[in-house]
This record gives sequence, C-alpha cells and structure tokens, in this order.
Amino acid sequence: MKNVGSERPTNSKEFTENYSAMEKAIEKVDSLAKRLIAGGSENSKARHVKRGKMLPRDRVANLLDTGSFFLEVGLFAANGEYKDEVPSAGAIAGVGLVSKRLCMIICNDATVKGGSYYPLTVKKHLRAQEIAAENHLPCIYLVDSGGANLPSWDDVFPDKNHFGRIFYNQAQMSARGIPQIAVVMGSCTAGGAYLPAMSDQTIIVKNQGTIFLAGPPLLKQATGEIIDAETLGGGDTHARLSGVADYLADNDEHAISLTRMIISDLSSIPEYKRSNYNPPMLDPDDLLGFVNSDPKKGFDIFNLIGRIVDGSNFSEFKATYGETLVCGFAKVCGVEVGIIGNNGVLFSESSKKGAHFIELCCQRKIPLLFLQNITGFMVGKKYEQTGIASDGAKLVHAVSCANVPKITVIVGGSYGAGNYGMCGRAFGPRFVWTWPNAKVAVMGGEQAAGVMAEVNIAAAKSKGKKLSEKEIINIKKPILDMFAHKSEATFASAHLWDDGIIDPRKTREVVALSLEIAMNAPVQETKFGVFRM
Ligand code: COA
Repeated sequence: MKNVGSERPTNSKEFTENYSAMEKAIEKVDSLAKRLIAGGSENSKARHVKRGKMLPRDRVANLLDTGSFFLEVGLFAANGEYKDEVPSAGAIAGVGLVSKRLCMIICNDATVKGGSYYPLTVKKHLRAQEIAAENHLPCIYLVDSGGANLPSWDDVFPDKNHFGRIFYNQAQMSARGIPQIAVVMGSCTAGGAYLPAMSDQTIIVKNQGTIFLAGPPLLKQATGEIIDAETLGGGDTHARLSGVADYLADNDEHAISLTRMIISDLSSIPEYKRSNYNPPMLDPDDLLGFVNSDPKKGFDIFNLIGRIVDGSNFSEFKATYGETLVCGFAKVCGVEVGIIGNNGVLFSESSKKGAHFIELCCQRKIPLLFLQNITGFMVGKKYEQTGIASDGAKLVHAVSCANVPKITVIVGGSYGAGNYGMCGRAFGPRFVWTWPNAKVAVMGGEQAAGVMAEVNIAAAKSKGKKLSEKEIINIKKPILDMFAHKSEATFASAHLWDDGIIDPRKTREVVALSLEIAMNAPVQETKFGVFRM
C-alpha cells in the first residue's frame, strides 16, 4: 500500500481554470436538479395537498429513518423529453434506510400527469426493480398513479420490458425472498391494480387509495354499471370485503408508520451497518481542479483515486506494465475494492493487465470499481497487426463474465469500445454514476462528422462529382451539433444510460453506498468463457 495523488498545486493557472469550469458544470446540473425535485406544477401540487395527501418527496422523506441517506436513481430521467412536462419521468426512486434496512423506494408523482407511466417511467421503474433484485433490497412501492400513459400505450404496454414486466419482477423477487410492499396512497387503475395485488403485503389509505381493474368511467362504458370510486375499490372495500389490501391506514402518515412496522418485522433482512474506516488524506474538493476543462486533454487518475479511497492508500497491481490502465486494491469506507481506472488509451498490454486483474478480483470475490475516462482502444496498422482486437476482447470478456459486483463512475470521456471495456451500462454494473463534465458517445463528434464527410465525398466521386467546401461543411455541421447535444451527461442521464449525475466531491460517499448496497447480496462465483490467446 502506498499513498497516491498529488497535493493541490499552489498558484496553478490551469488548476484554477479547471476548478471554475467544473464548478460551472456542477451549478448547471444542480439548478436542473432543483427544478426536477420540485415535481409537477404549483396548481397540481396545491390540488394534491388540498386532498389531504403528502407531496411525493415528503412521503419518501417521512418513510426514511431520521438522518438516512437517499441514494436517488434516475432523477434526470426524461429531462428534455415529452415537451419537458414530465420531471424525473413522474416518479421518485432510490435506496435509503427504512427501519434500519436498505430498501428500494419507488414513489409515483401524481402531480406529474397523474403519475401515469411514460416509456421512460417504465424504464426507470424497471431499473429500480433491477437494482433491488440484484442487491436483495426489499421494495416499497408508494402508489399513486393513473397507470399506463394512454397516448403512449404502444410504447409502454406490450413488449418484454414494458409495463407488464413490473409485475413479473415482483413475482420473481417475491419468489427469491425479496419482500414486496405496496402502499396505495392514490389511484391504482387497470394494469396498475396488479402492483398492490402482486405485493407480499399491501396497505391502503382510507377514502384516498383506490384499486380497480376498471375505474368508474370505463365500467360505465363497458357494462353500464354506475358506481363511485370508493365503493368500487376504496380502502374499506379492499381491507374488509375483497382482501386485496391487508392494512387500512387513516392517512399518509399512518400508512408510512405501518410500512415502517412491516419492514422492522423483516428479521431475515439484516440491519445496515457501516464498517470502520479512515478518511482520505487528500481533500475531495481538489477533484474539481484536477480534471482538465478541455475534454481532449487527459488527467492523472491517481489524483482521483487518492481522494476517493480510505487513507488515500492504494496497492497498485503491475505498476510498470500497461500503464494506461491503472489497477489496484483499496478500501472505500471500509469496503475492499479492486479499482480499474484509465490513464490514457487502451493498448494490448493494458487490456491484458485489466483482464488479469478482473480474474484476481473474481477469484477473491472483491467488487470492482471502474473509473472511466477513455477514448477507446488504440487503432492503426501496428496495433491491428499485433492483435489489439483480440486483446481488447479479453478485457471485454473478463468484464462481461465477472460476477462480482461492478460499479462504474464516468469521470471524463466514455467513447466507443472504451465504454465496453470499462464496464459501461451494457456490462451489468450494479450502478453507473456520471460526473457533470462527462461525455458519452460512440465516438467524438469531429471524428463522426469527418467519417460522414468521407463517405459522402466517396459516394459523390463514384458518380463523377466533387463536393465543394460548403457542401462538406453542410454535411458536418448537423452531425457536430447532434453529437455535442447527445454526448452531454444530462442527455445520458435523461435516457437512463446511467443512474444519476453526481458532484465529483460526493464520489467517495456515492461509491461507498453503492458498494455497501451491492455487498448486501451474496457474491456469486464467476465462470469465464474462452479467452482468445
Ligand atoms: N394517461 C394519460 N394521461 C393521464 C392518465 C393516463 N392514464 N391519467 C391521468 N392523466 C393526466 C390527465 O390527463 C391530466 O393531465 P393534465 O394535467 O394535462 O390535465 C393529469 O394526468 C391529471 O389527471 P386528473 O384526472 O386531472 O387528476 P385526478 O387526480 O383528478 O385523477 C386519475 C387522477 C388517475 C384518477 C384519473 O386521471 C384517471 O382516472 N386516469 C385514467 C386512469 C386509467 O384508466 N388508466 C388506464 C391505465 S391502463
């Protein structure tokens, strides 16, 4: 073990400029987060409160233990989509402590389009359930929703990863002993009625929660029956007559206290406890200045590692081989972890080193932390002829098969196959977090525009034409603009390619919680396939 990371430089113009660029990026994300946390319109919130209901964020806050963290997932979901009318995709999701246990909370926001499910709401709900399933977290569903968003029905209803998958996941988790608790605090209509009906235990709020397969308007059309919502599927009906609900609550506060009681009775679920640890020797605030404001310029990953790990202590593996990929062991808030971080482009040596290190961690059941700042694998004749494709594939293979928990933080660029080798979303990391400066794209915008210009120039040439400078600029410009927009961290997070954008200074805490949550489930054995040698 040795201490890693340099001290904060004094009088460095570059550091100061980087710091203020990162501060601006954080401020932009923070002000967006503030708007999303506010939820629906003021009118709709006032109407909600007037009905005696707690606002969704108050429901979550009251459910959590006093002083508990809330590791929110998908806050930026749907940002910029659906005419920007669906903040956070109309739902709140995240992990926090309820009666001292780590729980996944999924709460509909009825102040946003009646809490109805848009395509990204479904994606967010399924992602939250995936986190619960992988990490053995009891699920608490605070239900208040108009169900499938009807104008978007074809994108939310029939496919494998659509609305029905929510209920499939509930049954699968219940079968694995992962508790499913529904708290019906508002509407639960049609398909949505299956959410409480498929839960292990269900609470309903009197004169407020409703569960029915067809609500009064649909029923009138279908059978001609005229009935009020409360008699058809209110609390009294379900707690006394149908048995669809198990507990009748007087109001939101009472429902929350019943939920906390149910969780405190789960003796099979261990209580959360943090191990002893030492803080880093270096100040996390320095992270803002060490990351170059020009994304094309690299930065030393050791300066990040030294500000994330306990005591800034890092035991480096193969320090003098394949130096563009830094690998080694450390602890984060007392949890042992194998870290893989980029210090340049991936060569054959660095790829093989990464695959070797992943094997070590899997053998020893140590979780992996990937710190991504990667433009991709090295290209060119020399590298192709010496097998960069199969050496890169060794890393991708090891990442794919590694059954230890994997956590990914995108701290800079995440481009092309580099995203794959460094455990991007497709490779099953338990969590993916993104820094505000991060860029995620298949390649850089300039390269993409250049490729498309070359293709068009060649096509024109085959027809005996030559493109003018202006025509080439006209081909490149929209591609450059599109890449600039779609590579932003906020775009990635809006589409749930990650679990959220985090302030670099909070990386250590977010990584620690992610690891603790991941280690809540037993670590599985790993079996690798065929590595091409
Ligand atoms: N699809 C699309 N939009 C929906 C919706 C749905 N399933 N449910 C509600 N909304 C929208 C409403 O159009 C309204 O939009 P607006 O803010 O632009 O006016 C907003 O959500 C609030 O709905 P509103 O009816 O005014 O609120 P409410 O609190 O009085 O009632 C519900 C809420 C959910 C009880 C009621 O909207 C309802 O019955 N919705 C239909 C439920 C249904 O049949 N779903 C079928 C699922 S398969």
